[in-house]
Amino acid sequence: MSLYHLQMERRSLADTVDALRALGEPSRLRIVAVLRHGELTVTDLTEVLGQSQPRVSRHLRVLLDAGLITKHREGSWSFFQVIDEATELLADVLAHVDVDDAELVHDRARLDDVRSRRSAAAEEYFEQIASSWDEERALHASVQAVEAAIVAAVGEQPIDRLVDLGTGTGRMLQLLGAGTSRALGVDASHSMLSIARANLDAESLRHCELRQGDVYRPPLDARAFDVAIVHQVLHYLEEPERAVAEAARLLAPGGRLLVVDFAPHRHEFLRDEHAHRRLGFSHEQLSGFALAAGLADIELTDLAPPAGADGLTVTICVATAVERLEGAA
Ligand SMILES: C[S@@+](CC[C@H](N)C(=O)[O-])C[C@H]1O[C@@H](n2cnc3c(N)ncnc32)[C@H](O)[C@@H]1O
Repeated sequence: MSLYHLQMERRSLADTVDALRALGEPSRLRIVAVLRHGELTVTDLTEVLGQSQPRVSRHLRVLLDAGLITKHREGSWSFFQVIDEATELLADVLAHVDVDDAELVHDRARLDDVRSRRSAAAEEYFEQIASSWDEERALHASVQAVEAAIVAAVGEQPIDRLVDLGTGTGRMLQLLGAGTSRALGVDASHSMLSIARANLDAESLRHCELRQGDVYRPPLDARAFDVAIVHQVLHYLEEPERAVAEAARLLAPGGRLLVVDFAPHRHEFLRDEHAHRRLGFSHEQLSGFALAAGLADIELTDLAPPAGADGLTVTICVATAVERLEGAA
């Protein structure tokens, strides 16, 4: 573990007492025990604990004030999760609790029910759009080939902090998120995020976070990530260059941006039936977006469509954030 993480986890004496006080209550200990399995809403927690919403909300307020959990909004819902810095403290405290304690066993069973319902709802939504996705996918190189090329483009160097802009169903987090210390997916669509949440739950990728947000204004600090990926999102956008500039803003010096999208094509039906705004991007366009965003070392790779088909070429563009000089614009 890095020195940075060790420092992050140290609390003052007073804060440690506050945290332990907050945990010194059965329902609150049960809440953090279930939140360690992933983020949940008040409604989810109400169901898991079998307690009223006002009561659960009061407990959540105490845990928030003690700096043990955090909250983020997604439309009209709020999701609660354990904060990174509290993970070890909670693991230490919960290590003393019998895992077969009847209440904890009951909570885990109810949590499984909540998650199964979430996955079922997500699958139902995905069923509705799956055929249109299949139609689109049949036109380009196999998903496996595209994903292998993305992994190769990222390289063997492990990713520390990853952001996936327009994460959709969270596929890129599943592909690249496993070894990261932080992996965050941003998407405008609540339905997509529900599917992503179910997918990440299914693979126990608990450290991967999801946020509802706009790729034009991602609700994230500048220079906070080592890799940003924008996979099959630019062609939906009115102003793709603005999204690339925002993605570049999120990169620490030396960080890399991966844009994966279609090369220019003539499939008008993607505009009419699949809401594409752009019929692909040329190397010049993608390089231009990256250069305008202040990125350098641009590399472009094309993946050809299936043989014989009037298909879609997939282009992978990798560009690197350079250290900005003091006083430079
Ligand atoms: C084809 S999906 C790709 C999802 C994912 N990157 C993948 O490859 O599986 C495009 C995603 O972009 C999201 N999206 C489109 N415009 C957006 C915007 N302005 N801000 C955030 N997300 C957006 C959509 O909600 C959708 O989930």
